[in-house]
Amino acid sequence: MPCAGPVPGPDQVRAGLGAGSALMSRIAYVNGRYLPHREAAVHVEDRGYQFADGVYEVCEVRGAAIVDERRHLQRLTRSLGELRIALPMSLIALGFVLRETVRRNRVRDGLVYLQITRGVARRDFPFPPLSVQPSLVVTARHLDQARIEATAHEGIAVVTVPDNRWDRVDIKSVSLLPNVLAKEAAKAAGAKEAWLVDREGFVTEGASSNAWIVTRDGTLVTRPAQHGILRGVTRSVILDVVAAQSLAFEERKFSVAEAYAAREAFVTSASQRVMPVVLIDGRPIGNGAPGFVATALRRDFSRYAEIG
Ligand code: PDD
Repeated sequence: MPCAGPVPGPDQVRAGLGAGSALMSRIAYVNGRYLPHREAAVHVEDRGYQFADGVYEVCEVRGAAIVDERRHLQRLTRSLGELRIALPMSLIALGFVLRETVRRNRVRDGLVYLQITRGVARRDFPFPPLSVQPSLVVTARHLDQARIEATAHEGIAVVTVPDNRWDRVDIKSVSLLPNVLAKEAAKAAGAKEAWLVDREGFVTEGASSNAWIVTRDGTLVTRPAQHGILRGVTRSVILDVVAAQSLAFEERKFSVAEAYAAREAFVTSASQRVMPVVLIDGRPIGNGAPGFVATALRRDFSRYAEIG
């Protein structure tokens, strides 16, 4: 059993052989290389890191063998297919990497974790070109089976919480996979942005912007910023402009039908400021050109934003 040195570092763990095992370095597989855990890193623009644009599997390791490998790889293949991420290697090669990572970490009873992301590309919501290689990371670690058995003997407690796994879009989190898929759908339809629609047919917001319309009678409308949308900074600047210029304004939901019939539409975000929308689902909005209100707000924006 190789020993990493007399003073174990933070990347060194008691791996695999139970009580009395030697301390050794953990090894992680990262895109073709087996690396010491300390050096195992992915690029900052990996889409897993930027957008949670990836999938993973965790398999149990029992007696140094992977449990239910076939079923895990089957689910992995399905998850990848749903997201249209290519398998970075054949399933046979992937099985080899899993077993090799388990072996190099000397895990007898524990877990092997694999993550595949859409790869490294400049941060942009839609999928990058197919030439971008998916990233593959595999790690393995020991689990203390005796402790788990002891816990099983006692049983565990649970608490209930609301299942709001996709609900908390008011938090600007990097769980952006739904936004990525919406943006990709927009791109496929020749559009720049996707407007997300709730179950009742009301627009919530854009995939990376807040959504606004100007009604036929000239009233600005945007959805209230509760849990259902992100409280856009640009949106709040526009609210200041609205107040300062006493513009007609209603903070309320608006439906897709109302948006189709609007005089103007636009989106707001830090990356686009105020961006007029001229087509929704292929239908021209107003006269099909950037509207007067959106253009004026775009022009006035910098007077109200805090710059520097
Ligand atoms: N997106 N809604 C969503 C879902 C967003 O991702 C964003 C911003 C906004 C607008 O917020 P703000 O005005 O603070 O930029 C609304 C940024 C630009 C992005 O992820 O690229």
